[in-house]
Amino acid sequence: MKLLVILLFSGLITGCRGNSSHNLPPKLLLVSFDGFRADYLQNYEFPHLRNFIKEGVLVEHVENVFITKTFPNHYSIVTGLYEESHGIVANSMYDVITKKHFSDFDDKDPFWWNEAVPIWVTNQLQENRSSAAAMWPGTDVPIHNTTPSYFMNYSSSVSFEERLNNITMWLMNSNPPVTFATLYWEEPDASGHKYGPEDKENMYRVLKEVDDLIGELVHKLKVLGLWEDLNVIITSDHGMTQCSKDKLINLDLCIDHSSYTLVDLTPVAAILPKINTTEVYNKLKICNPHMNVYLKEDIPARFHYQHNDRIQPIILVADEGWTIVLNKSLPKLGDHGYDNSLSSMHPFLAAHGPAFHKGYKHSTINSVDIYPMMCHILGLKPHPNNGTFGHTKCLLVDQWCINLPEAIGIVIGALLVLTTLTCLIIIMQNRLSVPRPFSRLQLQEDDDDPLIE
Ligand SMILES: *[C@@H]1O[C@H](CO)[C@@H](O)[C@H](O)[C@H]1NC(C)=O
Ligand SMILES: *[C@@H]1O[C@H](CO)[C@@H](O)[C@H](O)[C@H]1NC(C)=O
Ligand SMILES: *[C@@H]1O[C@H](CO)[C@@H](O)[C@H](O)[C@H]1NC(C)=O
Ligand SMILES: *[C@@H]1O[C@H](CO)[C@@H](O)[C@H](O)[C@H]1NC(C)=O
Ligand SMILES: *[C@@H]1O[C@H](CO)[C@@H](O)[C@H](O)[C@H]1NC(C)=O
Ligand SMILES: *[C@@H]1O[C@H](CO)[C@@H](O)[C@H](O)[C@H]1NC(C)=O
Ligand SMILES: *[C@@H]1O[C@H](CO)[C@@H](O)[C@H](O)[C@H]1NC(C)=O
Ligand SMILES: [Zn+2]
Repeated sequence: MKLLVILLFSGLITGCRGNSSHNLPPKLLLVSFDGFRADYLQNYEFPHLRNFIKEGVLVEHVENVFITKTFPNHYSIVTGLYEESHGIVANSMYDVITKKHFSDFDDKDPFWWNEAVPIWVTNQLQENRSSAAAMWPGTDVPIHNTTPSYFMNYSSSVSFEERLNNITMWLMNSNPPVTFATLYWEEPDASGHKYGPEDKENMYRVLKEVDDLIGELVHKLKVLGLWEDLNVIITSDHGMTQCSKDKLINLDLCIDHSSYTLVDLTPVAAILPKINTTEVYNKLKICNPHMNVYLKEDIPARFHYQHNDRIQPIILVADEGWTIVLNKSLPKLGDHGYDNSLSSMHPFLAAHGPAFHKGYKHSTINSVDIYPMMCHILGLKPHPNNGTFGHTKCLLVDQWCINLPEAIGIVIGALLVLTTLTCLIIIMQNRLSVPRPFSRLQLQEDDDDPLIE
């Protein structure tokens, strides 16, 4: 029965695909609007994004990776790896062995990126395919000696329009063709930090601007004739939560700064002790009830944030909305980086194109699941990763996916068919048993045959 359904289904798919897919390889544009918290979609209006979703798919919550910061999460999306496995464990890092520093202003040393292979590199190793990037952390760095064939050096002063113009130009006129492209934009993250996500008036304005940019993107793709064949994913790296000057954790009140090196500060502090680690730990442990203090070996397993030399011996994790400071006032009204199980830290994902269903809504996936899905769409063999392809099957037209209502439907259907069959069999049996009296009569007649006696 199930086999029959599957056969029918796959037949249907190949039937539909028959002529619509040209000989061109599939193409994918991956877009990130930094700091787009999942529930902005419920709390604000996004007419252009809503139109995009109406003909595509929406994943309402993407559970991202700890720490919920920009560089680490963007790299997880394009590698499918937790931070401990791809090596970009923070926006600010220090490597004890090489004594190298990393920050969002000083990120171009391939050393930091080479622990993983991002999808744009893998894509380019395929014959006749190239990648292009209108920014995305890592795309202007020669990772494993490879940059995208077309890319921009990171600069926040390049307008969205210029990024969009150049990425579409590359998608249209390149040989070998660009089959994987990225587009990155700094909002609504920048404004989320500045005003805080609870500043409805300012966030309304900024999110309307973001939605207008999505409108521009779709319009441009349509005008250039790219819209029908291009797969477009719009997602983000993390959410944003409100901070407050009443929620400060001042490390200088607990411990002398000279006893440790501060590698990263808030909301996850990375502490490299200069003296006895236990002493530093014991002082920090009692510093503030709104902060968890972990020795590296005790970091909870669910964070997948332990097995990397770039993770420091002690980390401090502030509670949601709390800010770790050094004798200073509140630096920002909004922040992210907190525990990745907090829904305020989650982004969303929307997608449109020939690979995706139309008008399908899904509740949640993990950000590491995006990578195997993208590899599937592009026909690439994924590197070992922490994602699960099965989690995204329901989004894709070429996959057989059973969700709960469907499964219940199939079970009820199967039961109905079985019942009907059973009834039929019973009826048939009753009919078959009708001639029996006759045969008995005949037998009786035979019994009466005087010859046998
Ligand atoms: C397939 O598509 C092409 C171009 O759209 C069209 O010219 C052709 O007639 C189609 N073939 C079939 C068998 O539908
Ligand atoms: C690569 O592209 C060139 C020209 O566009 C074409 O001649 C060649 O057959 C392509 N190779 C493959 C493997 O698709
Ligand atoms: C975008 O493309 C134009 C035209 O080719 C070029 O002059 C410009 O430098 C590009 N912008 C960036 C940021 O690369
Ligand atoms: C990026 O910057 C480097 C160094 O400043 C320069 O050599 C390179 O040409 C730039 N690349 C692009 C694509 O603009
Ligand atoms: C570190 O400090 C703790 C407690 O103060 C002490 O028990 C331990 O022996 C010290 N370890 C070293 C290596 O100095
Ligand atoms: C921090 O502030 C406290 C109280 O205002 C002061 O005693 C202390 O010296 C300051 N520490 C540093 C490192 O500035
Ligand atoms: C994540 O994937 C990498 C690469 O396969 C693997 O080494 C690592 O153990 C995985 N992490 C977890 C927590 O499964
Ligand atoms: Zn970000």
